[in-house]
Parts: sequence; structure tokens; C-alpha cells
Amino acid sequence: MRKAKLILDKDYVISDVDKRIYGSFVEHLGRCVYTGIYEPGHPTADASGFRGDVLELVKKLNVPIVRYPGGNYVSGFRWEDAIGPKENRPRRLDLAWKTTDPNEVGIHEFCDWAKKAGSDVMYAVNLGTRGPAEAQALVEYANHKSGSYWSDLRIKNGAKDPFSIKLFCLGNEMDGPWQMGSKTAFEYGRAANEAAKMMKWTDDSIEVVACGSSSSTMPTFGEWEYTMLTECYNNVDYVSLHRYYGNPHNDTPDFLASTMDLDDFIRTVASICDAVKGKKRSKKRVNLSLDEWNVWYHSHQQDVDLHKREPWGTALPLLEDVYNFEDALLVGLMLITILKNADRVKVACLAQLVNVIAPIMTRKGGGAWAQTIYWPLLQASALGRGKSLLPIMESEKTDTRHYTDVPFVDAAAVLAEDGSVTIFAVNRDLEEAAELTADLRSFGKFKTASHSVLHHDNMKAVNTEADPDQVKPADVPIDWKDGKIILPAASWNVIRLVK
Ligand code: AHR
Repeated sequence: MRKAKLILDKDYVISDVDKRIYGSFVEHLGRCVYTGIYEPGHPTADASGFRGDVLELVKKLNVPIVRYPGGNYVSGFRWEDAIGPKENRPRRLDLAWKTTDPNEVGIHEFCDWAKKAGSDVMYAVNLGTRGPAEAQALVEYANHKSGSYWSDLRIKNGAKDPFSIKLFCLGNEMDGPWQMGSKTAFEYGRAANEAAKMMKWTDDSIEVVACGSSSSTMPTFGEWEYTMLTECYNNVDYVSLHRYYGNPHNDTPDFLASTMDLDDFIRTVASICDAVKGKKRSKKRVNLSLDEWNVWYHSHQQDVDLHKREPWGTALPLLEDVYNFEDALLVGLMLITILKNADRVKVACLAQLVNVIAPIMTRKGGGAWAQTIYWPLLQASALGRGKSLLPIMESEKTDTRHYTDVPFVDAAAVLAEDGSVTIFAVNRDLEEAAELTADLRSFGKFKTASHSVLHHDNMKAVNTEADPDQVKPADVPIDWKDGKIILPAASWNVIRLVK
């Protein structure tokens, strides 16, 4: 039996949890929009063509914010193509994903859908093939009340009230050579600064996210953040981080240790933001937007083959990772890492929402179901709101192929407004259960309301349309003995404590 000890104190608070850390992402990519959230003619579709079954699954996730419309897609996107009567909208080649987009869904349709889902929109502007002028026009179209060219066009197109979008991404992964219109850090920093200024002059209530590195593995990582922030620090509010992990060598202990890297990545970018703050003698703090994160590797080869077979198709099944149980554990660990960095990570978007590396899958004309990774996100989004407590954790440790001193047990804890505390804990050990001792010193008497466990004996178990409940959390009997509770081997645990 592994041993771990967790000390929580209600006065040891990392930060309020920004609910936007439970965000997601919808890109015009593969079947995320077309036959994902939108499928006119589907038996559950509403009058606007949005699938009711998908919407129900999204609502249960309680997604506070959805990033849209890309991703790599946005770097060639002309947002004006996707407004006005649908029959007049052009079909455009999307060079990012080598597909054709019919532009049937644009800002009007997506904002309507987001409202139904109870989500705010985080809108990415194109700073790849376009620039500050088009970004400014978009903000005027979306947020200006009336009496100007773009705002009056929005009204003419059917939206009397502004969309009131509050958060914008200044492009996407502009450091990546795969990006249309990719830039050097200096070029991007200048463009982002000018776009941010003009967007904020149009609506001073908005916040903007500057593109950080596409991953901590980029050769320019670090230098990119420092250089581009030097150009735009005063006009931006967040820096983005993107991070995906995979287990291509089937080394599960190493895979589950990947959050050591995520934690380093977050802390390094925060430090660079603060270095630029110091250099500029600024009082403002730039925080972080982890606006793409997930497991992504299962579909890589499939996508290469698909493109060879069907170049330029529409609604191609791209990036359709089928997630297994161990992926859900890593997603749980990534959520724990985000919560433990709640003082700096204010926005995080699981990439993506439907079909494309997604917690929700659909079949065209058929059903919709929850993948394994849906469950930790749902539970964290439901119970992880309030104050992120500093988890002082002692756990036995191990080394893996890429990481040293990996704790077997990792945990985060959130104190909710109603005084309840939820502990999210993963036991990474694949063989042995862990005995977790919780020392809740300043909390006084607590009773355990529930202990939910996500576990499967087969690390590779998946959910499918025919068998959607293979991997799903279940409540287990509450079994504290002398302040100790058992976390089964290879498990995600949600322990809810109430007064
Ligand atoms: O989420 C899939 C893709 O991953 C996004 O389009 C891009 O930003 C990233 O490389």
C-alpha cells in the first residue's frame, strides 16, 4: 500500500478559481462544427440545425467559455465570409486542415449556440493572413451597439443586440511554421500590440490573449514569450499556452507523469511574464490562458491516411482520438495541475469539445456519447469552483523515463462558497492502492458526503456509441479509518467533504 498525506488549511489559499478554467474549444476542423454541434436534418436538431443530443451533453459539462473558431483554421479565416444569408456565403478552402468550409456556421450562429449551451464565447481573430484592421472591424461588428458600418451590418443580419464578447485571442500559434502567416516573435509582438490597441479602443471592456509558444517543446520557447511580450505587454491581459500529451510508446507511468512538464511550463511562462513586468516597471500582471490542452496522439496516422484519400473534403473525420481510461487519468491530473496554478491560470480550454480530440463524440445521423475524458472535466467543473487551497502533499515518489521524483498521489482541493471542500486526487500507481491521510486542521468537524472513483481494470478501455458506460465514475462506500481513505490503484477520486 502506498502512503500519502495531504494537509489542507482554510487560510492557505492559492487563489480564487476562475471558472473559465473549465472552458473548451470549437474549431472549424473535421467534424467539430459540421455533424458535431451542427447537423441540420438530424433527428434532434433544432430549427437552427444544432443537435439537441450534443447540446445536452455540453450543458452537463457546464462549460463557462468556448474558444472559437480556431485554432489553425483562424489564421486564414475571413469572418465576413460567414455572415449574412447562408446561400450567399462562399465555400472556402481551409489550408490549415486541407478541407473545404461551407461557412454555414459563423459568428451569429455560434453565439446563438453558445447562449443555448450557457457558455460565453472566447473569439480568436486572424493575425496570420490578416491584421489589426480586420480584428478591429470584428470587434465593432460583434460588440458596438449601433450607428456604425459594422454594427449596423450586424443588426441588418439579424442580431439587434451586440454579442458582447469579452475575451479575444490575438491569433493562434503564431510561432509555428505550420501556421498561415506565421511570424517571428518581434513581428508578432508588434502586430498583437497594434491589434490589441485598436480592439480595445473600439470596446474598452474586452480582454485579450497574446499567443505564447505552441508548446514547451518549440525551439523558440521562452525567447518567444520574452520578445513578443516586450512589444505588447501593456496592451495584453493573458499569454496563451498550448500543451498536448501522448503515450505512443505505451509507457503509462511516464505518460501519467507528463503533468510534471505541464507544471514547469506554466511556472516558466508565468516567470517570463513577470520578468517583462519587471523590465517595464509595470504594475500590471499578465496571467495565463492554457487555451488548448488535452491528450492527442491516437489519430495521427489515421489523419495522414485520410488526407491522402480525401483531400479538401468537408466534415472529414479528422483528429478523432478515441480516448481510453488512462487518458482520463491524465486529463484528471492536468485539471489538478491547473487548479494548483489557479493564481496564474485564469482561462483553460480543453481542446476540443466535439469529435475533434474531444470529450463528446457523435455519429452523423446517429447518437452522441461521452468519451472517458468527459468525466473528470464534468466533475471538476461541477465541484471545483471556489478557492483553490494549497495542497501540502507528502507522497511516495518514483522515477519514469522522462521525469524524476514523480509523486504517486497528486491532489488539488477547492473550498466552495457553501463551505464544502472537494479533494480531487489521482493515484498514479498502476499496481498498488494508496492510503491517503487527510489533515484538515483548521476546518473542524467535517463529514464526507461522497467519494467518487473513476477506475477500470483495463487501462485501454474506451467508451463507444454501443457501450458508452464502460468508463464512468461511480460512488464508492465512504471508508475513512483514522483519517485515512483508500485511493485504488490507477484511479481518479473526487472526495466531497461537508460541514
Ligand atoms: O486543436 C487542434 C490544433 O492544435 C489547433 O488548431 C492548433 O491551434 C493546435 O496546433
